[in-house]
Amino acid sequence: MRRPLVAGNWKMHGTRTSVAELITGLRHLALPGGVEVAVFPPCLYINQVITGLEGKPIAIGAQNCAVEPMQGALTGEVAPSQLADAGCTLVLVGHSERRLILGERDELLGRKFAAAQSCGLIPVLCVGETLEQRQAGRTLEVVGRQLGSVIEGLGVGAFARAVVAYEPVWAIGTGLTASPQQAQEVHAAIRAQLATENSEVARGVRILYGGSVKAANAAELFGMPDIDGGLIGGASLNADEFGAICRAAGS
Ligand code: 13P
Repeated sequence: MRRPLVAGNWKMHGTRTSVAELITGLRHLALPGGVEVAVFPPCLYINQVITGLEGKPIAIGAQNCAVEPMQGALTGEVAPSQLADAGCTLVLVGHSERRLILGERDELLGRKFAAAQSCGLIPVLCVGETLEQRQAGRTLEVVGRQLGSVIEGLGVGAFARAVVAYEPVWAIGTGLTASPQQAQEVHAAIRAQLATENSEVARGVRILYGGSVKAANAAELFGMPDIDGGLIGGASLNADEFGAICRAAGS
């Protein structure tokens, strides 16, 4: 019932030349039917990617957006309405690198989430615990708070038009992947938290796993009942590897 989604977060990687190469690689991919595929290039290259992937069924998203929906006096930021105008359909909200390095807090992220939705973008809310929090047994509490803050602010109905990505911080870029069982436990808790408010929304929302996903471990992760695809960092910079991960979601 839930269509898997595999999304590549390119983070702050790329040049015009390397982006052009990646576009060529993506254009040549045989993508599986029944799987939605998306990429999140750095903002500067979104237009290049949208033009380069024209006609290919790959959605484009941004890695961040402003707290205000419409264009205006907010130096250095990009409005969700501008992202939509450029052709984006998705936007990441609350990636752990922005929470931890830039200090983005739940309250601010709720505003970004709402601003994105008001412009018709689908927010992908990223949640996840640090290694310290996991070792202290606080994983479900931390993830529950990150998710709960958006539910409290905007209502559970907001998740009828959103995606959640569980990305344990200790698994991002480290080569350490959460085991399918570890990930499934958190995904099930996220869905259960939504279900306490609205079971239909909980059943329909896609919950992606992110953190050192590669072609070699994707099928096992995507085989878990509450894992509906992945948010892929490093491995999404290689078109063939990314294509293999997309195919794993279709099997
Ligand atoms: P890696 O796949 O490089 O671990 O990154 C995951 C991630 O942060 C995607 O948003």
